[in-house]
Amino acid sequence: MTREQLDGITLPKHIGIIMDGNGRWATKRGLERSEGHKAGAEVFRKICDYAADIGIECMTFYAFSTENWRRPPKEVAAIMKIFRSFLKEAKDREKENEARGLQFHLIGERQGLPADIVKNIDTLEKDSADKKVMQVNLAINYGGRDEIVHSVRKIAEKVKKGELNPADISEDTVSSFLFTAGQPDPDLIIRPSGEYRLSNFMIWQSAYSEFWFDDILWPDFTTDDLDRAILDYCSRHRRFGGV
Ligand code: FPP
Repeated sequence: MTREQLDGITLPKHIGIIMDGNGRWATKRGLERSEGHKAGAEVFRKICDYAADIGIECMTFYAFSTENWRRPPKEVAAIMKIFRSFLKEAKDREKENEARGLQFHLIGERQGLPADIVKNIDTLEKDSADKKVMQVNLAINYGGRDEIVHSVRKIAEKVKKGELNPADISEDTVSSFLFTAGQPDPDLIIRPSGEYRLSNFMIWQSAYSEFWFDDILWPDFTTDDLDRAILDYCSRHRRFGGV
């Protein structure tokens, strides 16, 4: 996006991306599916940096769903290995990430993830906690329904303790116990790879999101594609149920 283009538009505050198509990208090239995930992780880094540079306030990347555990163990292990290298690299790139103001946050269930990954994500969250120019949500072991159940459990505990009256439970109460508590809902959700579904991604928060679908596979996705999605978003007329 050029400076001139940026001047004229109101950017989405929060963009969610379903990084899909890694497997097909690899298969098309006669490679192992894990090679597609590796290429996808590179694109994640580039898009993340670019989004921060153009002034997006929050990005959510769907990296591993609560359903992805059903994949062959070899593929799951390859994806976990990619998370480990990302976490190691984030340490090595701490100064660069800090200069960019990237604040990382895990949205997803810690329980069920390998302990070393959880530990390093906790450290990354802590170390980047006061850096916020752009929030980067990593949706790992994430499911939208699971997130709602998580919120409902917390609310039920409060009711049980007598701290909350059921009649006072509002949409804001549910939002305040989601992993994204305090963040704006996604304005724009991007899904490449020609699939037209949410696959359990931010199902509560996306009530009024704009969607952008494209046939491009995630490892081929470039900053120009992000620009295309943003410019398309800017041409939409959002009514939020009004006229
Ligand atoms: C979906 O494509 C992709 C995944 C389940 C994994 C995505 C993970 C990454 C891109 C790594 C990101 C890394 C970090 C550090 C956040 P698919 O395998 O379903 O593709 P297919 O539909 O073509 O089979």
